Amino acid sequence: MKEPVYKRILLKLSGEALAGKQGTGISTATIQQIAQDVAEAYKAGVQIGLVIGGGNIYRGVAASAEGMDRASADYMGMLATCINALALQDALEKAGVPTRVQTAIEMAEIAEPYIRRKAIRHLEKGRLVIFGAGTGNPFFTTDTAASLRAMEINAQVIMKATKVDGIYDKDPTKHADAKKFEKISYIDVLNRGLQVMDSTAISMCMDNKLPIITFDLTQPGNILRAVQGENIGTLVQ
Ligand code: GTP
Repeated sequence: MKEPVYKRILLKLSGEALAGKQGTGISTATIQQIAQDVAEAYKAGVQIGLVIGGGNIYRGVAASAEGMDRASADYMGMLATCINALALQDALEKAGVPTRVQTAIEMAEIAEPYIRRKAIRHLEKGRLVIFGAGTGNPFFTTDTAASLRAMEINAQVIMKATKVDGIYDKDPTKHADAKKFEKISYIDVLNRGLQVMDSTAISMCMDNKLPIITFDLTQPGNILRAVQGENIGTLVQ
């Protein structure tokens, strides 16, 4: 097997990824497939920190657009990420990956509280660490949580696995002539308003020179390909 080119990564999965074709909630078959894919990368010897979104259960931004108080809606979204974190832990452990869940909002009966040095120690001991509850603050997305945790654990790269195979100059589902970027700079992503991650997350990565690779999660084996350095999506740096 090809050697991985990264020793430590932060993998960001959207909550919607867990829903599969059903669109909401957690699809057992889909989460098992994702766990298998993550397990392949783990077994190749990569230390993995994982941030999961919550949009398959609850979308704080959408609820606040409909009139709900944004902070309350965001807290509900954070709780949704914890449900996903526990589901992923179960699926990953069944796929043979030892994991620990740490949450940014304390719920000690359910999971460990987030402690940076403990998270790093878990990684060193070969445990995959799932970070739940985003950053623990409303008005921040789970993409921003991914950037923050990536920096805190000294990850070499953020791998953002989505439904699209990279970044395009316009929406590829609406424009047949949309062009995919192999590489793009942070500032271009910001200036063009490309929907990779929100601007807070991109700015944090830019300020700290943390590369982002975005690729298609629905293609089995892609996480392993990405950690092996294959050119399968778009690199932001
Ligand atoms: P080492 O200290 O490296 O041995 O790590 P460890 O995680 O194996 O040891 P620890 O005794 O801290 O944890 C044992 C189990 O309890 C693990 O599954 C942890 O995730 C879990 N655990 C540890 N702290 C907490 C906590 O505050 N709340 C909850 N719910 N579980 C915890």
